[in-house]
Amino acid sequence: MIDGRQEMVRFELNGVPVEIGVVMDEPLSQVLRRLGEATVRESCAVGLCGCCTALVDGKSVSTCLYWAVMADGTHVETLDGLGSDQRVAALQGSIAERGAAQCGYCTPGMVLTALELFDAGPQSTQEIAAHMNGNLCRCACYPEMTCAIKDALMTAGDGSAT
Ligand code: FES
Ligand code: FES
Repeated sequence: MIDGRQEMVRFELNGVPVEIGVVMDEPLSQVLRRLGEATVRESCAVGLCGCCTALVDGKSVSTCLYWAVMADGTHVETLDGLGSDQRVAALQGSIAERGAAQCGYCTPGMVLTALELFDAGPQSTQEIAAHMNGNLCRCACYPEMTCAIKDALMTAGDGSAT
């Protein structure tokens, strides 16, 4: 039901066209949760933790700071939509091997942010840590996560993942 305070927004969510009424100041994170995207997690709600990360036109964004009306005409991807992505598979494997997910709350956001590193190929520990510094982990799995990402990038560099 659309009332006077709402705006109709149309975008593609994980390859599926979506049309939904949003209020002008509604964050994309809350709209994605309304659409059932459980891997988008609103934690701090002020752009500090990265748990609400999604890809908008291929770029990772903190969706708690991204007004849903701005998503009109974009392609939005969450971790649920990337199940067949070889890079995600490589990351999930290395995260499991390194024990980089304890409670797992931050993991979807970590994975989506790490995807941006694949275009640049293998990177140093410092470069990976710098890229990931907007993603917080309450379980403090930072060293393990950095190693896991490095492993996945090396695997991709070997041609084992694309
Ligand atoms: S909930 Fe969006 S950055 Fe923390
Ligand atoms: S694994 Fe628990 S918050 Fe990161």
